[in-house]
Amino acid sequence: MPFCIAIDGPAGAGKSTVAKIVAERLNYIYIDTGAMYRAVTLRALQRYVNLEDEQALTDLAASTRIELSAGYNEGTRVFMDGKEVSLAIRAPEVSRSVSLVARVPGVRKELVNQQRRMARSSNVVMEGRDVGTVIVPDAQIKVFLTASANERAKRRLKDLAGQGFKITLGDMIEEINERDKLDSSRAVAPLVPAPDAKVIDSSKMQTHDVVELILELVRRRSG
Ligand code: DC
Repeated sequence: MPFCIAIDGPAGAGKSTVAKIVAERLNYIYIDTGAMYRAVTLRALQRYVNLEDEQALTDLAASTRIELSAGYNEGTRVFMDGKEVSLAIRAPEVSRSVSLVARVPGVRKELVNQQRRMARSSNVVMEGRDVGTVIVPDAQIKVFLTASANERAKRRLKDLAGQGFKITLGDMIEEINERDKLDSSRAVAPLVPAPDAKVIDSSKMQTHDVVELILELVRRRSG
């Protein structure tokens, strides 16, 4: 049974940064499950699919081939039907629409199946919203990483600026609050910590300290 470190939490809590470093330190595979919802959303936007049409979105999720590169140093590269979309899936239009796609039960079923297969085949650090609650409920380590909305908006802004996207702090706080609301209130797999997750508030913590805390949990668990 491979080892799974589940890292869930809201947008901008620092999950990706922390998950990538933990994966690198342990030589595990890093899997960004949100990238898969983003890829389906990008495809829907490209094809002008109505984002209220659950059947069309479900069909799209089933027919789109999504591959994630296993590397962690350069960040995960994402391929959709063989074409690299690593940057395109981070565009603000995708961020604004992805919660609508991620709430569709048929889309979730398809992607969760794919994610479970990935978690079963190697030791992974898997990042998302429902890793510890739905995808791998028997993950050996479960972390729910969170931070204040203001802090999360600032971090997202920095990431996006680095990728060449421009957006104001006010708009970013609004987008984050809106996305949290949709992600937390949806009927299927809402964003909530698993009962056995270690909740970490990273608002006032350095990345290094969060990483060390998680590695300590792993050490304790592995004896
Ligand atoms: O982590 P992210 O911001 O790239 O995730 C994009 C969206 O996908 C986010 O709004 C919630 C959704 N998501 C999800 O519903 N379940 C996951 N396991 C991962 C992401």
